[in-house]
Amino acid sequence: MARRRQIYEGKAKILYEGPEPGTLIQYFKDDATAFNAQKRGTISGKGVINNRISEHIFTALQTIGVPTHFIRRINMREQLIRQVEIIPIEVVVRNVAAGSLSKRLGIEEGTQLPRTIIEYYYKDDALGDPMIADEHIACFGWATQEEMNDIADMAIRVNDFLSGMFAAIGIRLIDFKLEFGRVWDGDYARVILADEISPDGCRLWDMKTNQKLDKDRFRQDLGGVEEAYQEVARRLGLLQPEDESAVLDFDSHRKKRGR
Ligand code: TMP
Repeated sequence: MARRRQIYEGKAKILYEGPEPGTLIQYFKDDATAFNAQKRGTISGKGVINNRISEHIFTALQTIGVPTHFIRRINMREQLIRQVEIIPIEVVVRNVAAGSLSKRLGIEEGTQLPRTIIEYYYKDDALGDPMIADEHIACFGWATQEEMNDIADMAIRVNDFLSGMFAAIGIRLIDFKLEFGRVWDGDYARVILADEISPDGCRLWDMKTNQKLDKDRFRQDLGGVEEAYQEVARRLGLLQPEDESAVLDFDSHRKKRGR
């Protein structure tokens, strides 16, 4: 492949200059980190699977009118995206208590929340992505009130859509993280969905068994990490038949561990 300019390298992805102005290539790595990169590892094949899952989800969201940065998938690990100005806020949507919410507020993991919660975190690794309120966003000018309204509306639409999509394949959408970016049209800026949606940034539990099918398997050393990602892709209809043997390994692993 021709050499091309690297724009940015994150923990799980690399961004390269795209073929046309205003585009980028998003490359999905197998690298995984957790707890603000204190825990590092690789999940073999993760990049390939996340590329496919994210393509599938972003394409579906576009069909219901949620604007995203996704243009098209290029190959197993790369997709063409629109270049955006990333808004430095991680938007977390929660339907069921888990993770940091359970820890911080002492709510048992798995408790259905009486209403969906949207939380904001400031995207800054050095600070450990601290939780922030609307007041901080306005005070420091990270996004305008209008942009925040659009972001909250889109986050709820994404949640409703994904909850249904996953329920149809026997998966409970516990929580997930979104990132948004600005695109400019002359003087006018518009906010669109950016980054990725994959088991890296979602909590996905099997509806019948509550088995975790997401990055918590890596975070908590539960084993069967690769197989969990494959299982999500398989249920979404994204795995080729030749990949199915890996899924069967997952099933036997699950039986062995009794999970
Ligand atoms: P949390 O319970 O650790 O706050 O995570 C909430 C959701 O956000 C969970 O699905 C994982 C996702 N997430 C990320 O994608 N990146 C992050 O840096 C963090 C902390 C969470």
